[in-house]
Amino acid sequence: MNPNQALWEKGDFTQLAAAMRDSGAALVARLGVVAGQRVLDLGCGDGTTALPAAERGAEVTGVDISRPLVAAGNRRAQAAGLKNLRFQHGDAGDLRDLPDAYFDLVVSIFGAMFAPKPFEVAKAMLRVTRPGGRIVMGNWIPNDPTLVAQILRISAAYSPPPPEGFVSPMLWGLEAQVVERFTAAGVSPAAITVERDSYVFRDPAPPAGFLEKFRRFYGPTMNAFEAAEKEGRAAALQHELQALFERHNTAAQGTEIAAAFLRVTVQR
Ligand SMILES: C[S@@+](CC[C@H](N)C(=O)[O-])C[C@H]1O[C@@H](n2cnc3c(N)ncnc32)[C@H](O)[C@@H]1O
Repeated sequence: MNPNQALWEKGDFTQLAAAMRDSGAALVARLGVVAGQRVLDLGCGDGTTALPAAERGAEVTGVDISRPLVAAGNRRAQAAGLKNLRFQHGDAGDLRDLPDAYFDLVVSIFGAMFAPKPFEVAKAMLRVTRPGGRIVMGNWIPNDPTLVAQILRISAAYSPPPPEGFVSPMLWGLEAQVVERFTAAGVSPAAITVERDSYVFRDPAPPAGFLEKFRRFYGPTMNAFEAAEKEGRAAALQHELQALFERHNTAAQGTEIAAAFLRVTVQR
């Protein structure tokens, strides 16, 4: 299995996604998703944005590289009685099962950024978007001081160096890289806009308990702890991450942490 798929099938992202539902629904509302629109959610997980888009009446296809997450998404769609939402297995860099110029909106929130070939991803997203349609990506920002960028930075510091040729997913959080990738796919620079946006994580557990979910269920953090354990550094990693979670928590009870991301919009 390719390492990208193995990483995301390793844990159970549904455990973290549960903390992201409010921001997913709010983002879908801000994007103005309306009934009848054809929406593709790439790297959709178990449907944090796909499900609210379908609840607004859009015809939604969710594509994800993790088969357990596809199955979890389909269970959520069924439980919600949504016939206009289906999840299928696929790779954001190779959307060969999907037709050309079909979707009004292609959305990818912290999803396609993790696919290993970013230029292929930009090309594939553009191909399936209809002329006049939109692509919206949410991408974590490298070295940003907020939660997720810091989790990934700290996790990387405890992990072995990536293999030769590995392109960091975080580069999708840099405007210059975004413009380079979409212009290479044929988009005019004037059709690309970026802005800083925010996602809020809410969990009933206190910060240490919320961190425990990352340690047990979030592939990149699980890998970092496995590597740290081999070197006797797991306690140091735990300490560093716990301090991060506690520093950013704004809730008196449970956890509430806002994390900045780059919202990219491409007009087709
Ligand atoms: C951080 S999760 C975000 C999930 C979802 N968009 C959300 O907001 O809850 C990243 C998702 O991207 C998916 N993913 C990673 N690489 C992918 C690829 N090459 N093609 C499709 N999905 C991918 C993972 O399986 C995972 O569901």
